[in-house]
Amino acid sequence: MTEQPIADSAPLISLIRGDGIGPEISDATLEMLQGAGARLRFEEVPAGVAALPTHHDPLPEVTLASIEKTKVALKGPLSTPKGTGFRSVNVALRQHFDLYVNLRPAKTILGVPSRYEQVDIVTVRENTEDIYAGIEHFVGPGRSAAESIAVITRHGSERIVRYAFEYARKHGRKKVSIIHKANILKMSNGLFLEVGKEVAKNYPDIESDDVIVDAACMKLVLYPERFDVIVTMNLFGDILSDLIAGLIGGLGVSPGANLGERAAIFEAVHGSAPDIAGQGIANPSALALAASMMLDHLGQGGAAERLRRALYTAMADARTRTRDLGGQANTAEFTKAVLSYL
Ligand SMILES: NC(=O)c1ccc[n+]([C@@H]2O[C@H](COP(=O)([O-])OP(=O)(O)OC[C@H]3O[C@@H](n4cnc5c(N)ncnc54)[C@H](O)[C@@H]3O)[C@@H](O)[C@H]2O)c1
Repeated sequence: MTEQPIADSAPLISLIRGDGIGPEISDATLEMLQGAGARLRFEEVPAGVAALPTHHDPLPEVTLASIEKTKVALKGPLSTPKGTGFRSVNVALRQHFDLYVNLRPAKTILGVPSRYEQVDIVTVRENTEDIYAGIEHFVGPGRSAAESIAVITRHGSERIVRYAFEYARKHGRKKVSIIHKANILKMSNGLFLEVGKEVAKNYPDIESDDVIVDAACMKLVLYPERFDVIVTMNLFGDILSDLIAGLIGGLGVSPGANLGERAAIFEAVHGSAPDIAGQGIANPSALALAASMMLDHLGQGGAAERLRRALYTAMADARTRTRDLGGQANTAEFTKAVLSYL
């Protein structure tokens, strides 16, 4: 990113470039932010596999201290090697800062090839509890069994469902669907549903329903236009938001925000895509759209809207679209097109 004079009063953002395609899409996003006239200063901090050679820790103290100070981070994807011994840095960050909301908007982008035309769904995923609480162990000799414990609390359920209804009210949304599996997981999911229904009573202006997660998967594929705001627990939210990303053209166009009282971390829904890392062909749109959510969060709505419009225009043109969307452009060519629209 070329330096430009930015007033000291511009908000300071912790920047994690990330693993795999992270550095490529982060650099593209920084160029676009500058082109959109965003007023930001960045403090780059290490995390993930990229932090291991220098810090011997995938989530170094210096990174936590930076986010503690800035309260806002833009984060490229971080790899989590499979198997034991390496806890997900994404999960650790969400738990450390109690970022209990994972907000994932997915809206059909005019001109971008996808199977559906009228998708406009916001997934509000609980981000700190459930089976991702990190309580797992082997049982019996020789690793003959293993168990993971899903924790659902009244407090955690209440605040996430309340956030979903408040979001719906603030953004003129009509309906909130509570997704669960309370027919089988009668206590944990039963508690989430019970609290969800209690909270819903406080919002008579917003329609609400509840849908069992397996039925929700089928309905999302058959009639995605019937969904508006979805609120659900951590595991279902993780899976459903990727499904919903697929309804609008894939992971390359799906942004997300992790929000709490203490900090906000903006990221793409997708991972570090090791299969295409270093090739210069990744689509930076998801991270750039996450950056536009960050601008909204910081009260820079004008720059946010400029960035979104330029991204959508570049994506709608087959000549400047990236390969994941059926185009031929590489990351640099796509970024150049976005900058030309800015
Ligand atoms: N929030 C995060 O940081 C996050 C989220 C999911 C996965 N991960 C991690 O990422 C690593 C890889 O996971 P995965 O392969 O299951 O999922 P992934 O999202 O990285 O990739 C899935 C597929 O989508 C493609 N893809 C993803 N982003 C793209 C983009 N911007 N442009 C073009 N194509 C793109 C990839 O090439 C791959 O074929 C794992 O270590 C996983 O733990 C991190």
